[in-house]
Amino acid sequence: MTRSRTAATFSPPVMEARRWLDGVTHPADRPLINVSQAAPVAPPPHALRAALADIVMQDSDAHLYGPVLGLPALRDEIAQQWTRAYGGSIDPGQVGITSGCNQAFAAVIAALCDQDDEVILPVPYYFNHRMWLDMSGVRTIPLTCGADMVPDAAAAASLITDRTRAIVLVSPNNPCGVEYPAATLRAFLDLARARGIALIVDETYRDFDSRTGAPHDLFSDPHWDDTLIQLYSFSKAYRLTGHRVGAVLTNPGLMAEIEKFLDTVAICPNQIGQRAALWGMQNLSQWLAGERDEILDRRAAITDHFPALAAQGWKLLGVGAYFAYLEHPFAVSSHDLARRLVTDAGILLLPGTMFMPEGDTAGESQLRIAFANIDRAGIATLFDRLAKVAV
Ligand SMILES: Cc1ncc(COP(=O)(O)O)c(C=O)c1O
Repeated sequence: MTRSRTAATFSPPVMEARRWLDGVTHPADRPLINVSQAAPVAPPPHALRAALADIVMQDSDAHLYGPVLGLPALRDEIAQQWTRAYGGSIDPGQVGITSGCNQAFAAVIAALCDQDDEVILPVPYYFNHRMWLDMSGVRTIPLTCGADMVPDAAAAASLITDRTRAIVLVSPNNPCGVEYPAATLRAFLDLARARGIALIVDETYRDFDSRTGAPHDLFSDPHWDDTLIQLYSFSKAYRLTGHRVGAVLTNPGLMAEIEKFLDTVAICPNQIGQRAALWGMQNLSQWLAGERDEILDRRAAITDHFPALAAQGWKLLGVGAYFAYLEHPFAVSSHDLARRLVTDAGILLLPGTMFMPEGDTAGESQLRIAFANIDRAGIATLFDRLAKVAV
């Protein structure tokens, strides 16, 4: 019997971890700390919800199908704001709106790849990237990162074959939190261009980068769209997670291929969500700056409190955006440890094994903490509980 597309990959990791909570009661004085998912838990700010209500009541078109590649005004706004932020020149025809960044990735892979093609993913990877490649019959070629969790273009060069279609980078990174240096991104662009493959850069967490100014200069290259494909999400910036709005930036030729995928899968992105994203871009830059400050403060809290864990043999492998990526000191697999942390410490987090190919033993000692939803006090409590873990 042949195997189906979905049978070629694993079950959704966040859902699996959530099932670990079934039947577990947490004592009142030690409530669960859930650092498993990188999704905002609060709704969009009040002003955006009020704008959403107006859109629902006043804008009849918001309830109908719209253009496959998205609302023209939102494509224009992204082109303008991105041109200002990154330098260079980005045209609205190089911007497409998708039903979230995950769908943007799926559409790009469908547009680039055939069965048995290869795509290079730095390890640890974002598991939904791996899952979509599996379901597409595309081979994931793992690229091991160095101790700093940054991938190396020279190492990637030796993995490229005549079946390679793309290299995928996520910066700031999920799961490691690391912000890739501009020179790294430039080296990958040069490599991809020289070898005639695409460079896909998922910048879902761009709004929470700790650096000021553009995080890279790739868009200032007048021919960026012959190689670079950038992905973006509106889920984090304006907490529009449930409205499913993302974006893809690429050349108009590939966009026409992507359009076939989007038309067939969703016909158009969520019309209300797109209008909300546009309203957010036009009205919430101050609010978003405040959100970024808060995330950067939580990141600082991670480094402030880490010495207590370091004293117990833990290592901080990476921190930034929404994530801290840790190495634990115990002679137990991170998968088993993560399950025990639910019952023994009231902590739900994801093990490193969920972010790498089966058999890669590095993941056994690694854990991801998605800290965006816990404040300084919560981070202190989390580390206090981790420091007391005895295995
Ligand atoms: C790297 C990365 N890409 C994409 C997504 C999904 O974004 P969206 O909600 O826009 O589909 C996430 C969400 O966690 C992510 O971490």
